[in-house]
Amino acid sequence: MPELTIAIAKGRLQVATLERLGRVGIRADEEALASRRLWVRDREGRYRFIFVKPVDVPVYVEHGIADCGVVGRDVLLESQADLLQPLDLQFGRCRIVVASHKPELLSNGFGMLRVATKYPRITAEYFGSRGIPVEIIELAGSVELAPVLGLSDCIVDLVETGRTLDENGLRVIEVILESTARLVVNRASFQLKAEAVSQLIKALGESAKEEA
Ligand code: PRP
Repeated sequence: MPELTIAIAKGRLQVATLERLGRVGIRADEEALASRRLWVRDREGRYRFIFVKPVDVPVYVEHGIADCGVVGRDVLLESQADLLQPLDLQFGRCRIVVASHKPELLSNGFGMLRVATKYPRITAEYFGSRGIPVEIIELAGSVELAPVLGLSDCIVDLVETGRTLDENGLRVIEVILESTARLVVNRASFQLKAEAVSQLIKALGESAKEEA
């Protein structure tokens, strides 16, 4: 069976992803995981894990450097990479929302709204579909600071527990979409490594069903 390379999103989803892979018998050495190495093999030598920023998972998988990847639906919608998405893994549940310290923001008449976000595409599509003119201010992180310091009127960002919004005096105004972790597969790998890929999909699919 050919080795499969799986791109794993570092950060919020990493622990849950490794836990889910462990549950279906795919485990990397603890020592290797604790190291700073950005790629490790599983104990059986059937898989190679590479650890990359969430936004880079679709890039590695689309280019076929990784055969598969685990990443949030939010990141996939933003990237629009051409990938197969055979499974909702049912963890990493979160929402992409519009939030602000001005709760009446969208119900008042307004001119151009300034929106800070890490998700420019999702933001443009959402406000575009509602006919609301926006200036999108793209940030790489700590987005909640923008309205608090007057850089924007509101944000479009990910909310999991709601704690970051709360502790920065922001409230959800509207929910744009729900997101969970997804298994993604490179189109060529799906054909060329069909047996190995379908074994992985089957195992993770059964474990996702238990979770649903
Ligand atoms: C995400 C998101 C929020 C936070 C939400 O940021 O952008 O800031 O998590 O989580 P909560 O609802 O549980 O508080 P992340 O931690 O990925 O860091 P970043 O700001 O550097 O992007």
